[in-house]
Amino acid sequence: MIVEAKPNAVRKLVQQQRSRGAVVGVVPTMGALHAGHVSLVEAARASCDFVVATIFVNPTQFGPNEDFGRYPRTLEDDLSRCKNADADLVFTPDTSDMYLADAETTVRVNKLTTKLEGAMRPGHFDGVTTIVAKLFNVTVPDRAYFGQKDYQQQLVIKRMVRDLDWGIEVVTCPIIREPDGLAMSSRNRYLSPDDRQRALALQRALRFAADRAENSGDSAAEIQAQMRQMISSTDGVELDYAVIVDSETLENVDDRPATATALVAAKLGKTRLIDNQILRFR
Ligand code: PAJ
Repeated sequence: MIVEAKPNAVRKLVQQQRSRGAVVGVVPTMGALHAGHVSLVEAARASCDFVVATIFVNPTQFGPNEDFGRYPRTLEDDLSRCKNADADLVFTPDTSDMYLADAETTVRVNKLTTKLEGAMRPGHFDGVTTIVAKLFNVTVPDRAYFGQKDYQQQLVIKRMVRDLDWGIEVVTCPIIREPDGLAMSSRNRYLSPDDRQRALALQRALRFAADRAENSGDSAAEIQAQMRQMISSTDGVELDYAVIVDSETLENVDDRPATATALVAAKLGKTRLIDNQILRFR
């Protein structure tokens, strides 16, 4: 496995592979890798000839009061996970190489980014799309792998790729969970033991919503209200949002659509968690 920090060196290594006809897959991450990230590398490994993982804690997607400074940085462990998952190349750029001092270009997806995470975290998605665009331009992939865990993010990336005629296949991989159902996240390590227990309220509310959608005649709005109630009645959990929306547009849905997506976000102490679940109404 090659570890390379310089964008031009990565571009050359990928170019060599492409000229031999290799299908190139990229897995963008911010490091602090866990089994969720590893599952993306494995998915890439299963269907690409040359697998590139990127590790970069991207400053522009963090708000001024967010956790950029204390975001976990565990490079050695990350590299051994990438190696175990059989990545070919890990791109670990320095901030100064990704953001030149006089950079003035931003990639923005306009509307999808105004909702949910975009509304809670102004500027967040501009940071995400700009860095992912740059990572795509350096690694020139055929396929790119993202987690359903960040549901809105994968929608935004797909929209960007389509709108900019990138021709990259964006693959969304399932959410990997802890044995008790909590979605794996680099931020889970910040939860106190009490908050770790309370955090299960998110997953419980999503499972409840999936069950009601399938097995009751309740409308999406009714289930949404019940979900909200379940989360906000949990001590120590501060609800940001709990919604049931269209899986593509994130707009409101009818009474009982065929499918929809439930998305939740909440703060436990200083730690903010998100999770989601696709619902089928019957
Ligand atoms: P990061 O939070 O490190 O996540 C990297 C990728 O791993 C994302 O596609 C995310 O959805 C996926 N992921 C995280 N937890 C997961 C889980 N429990 N199951 C499955 N996939 C999971 O998302 C980012 O980094 C950044 O915004 C990035 C796209 C790298 C741009 O900076």
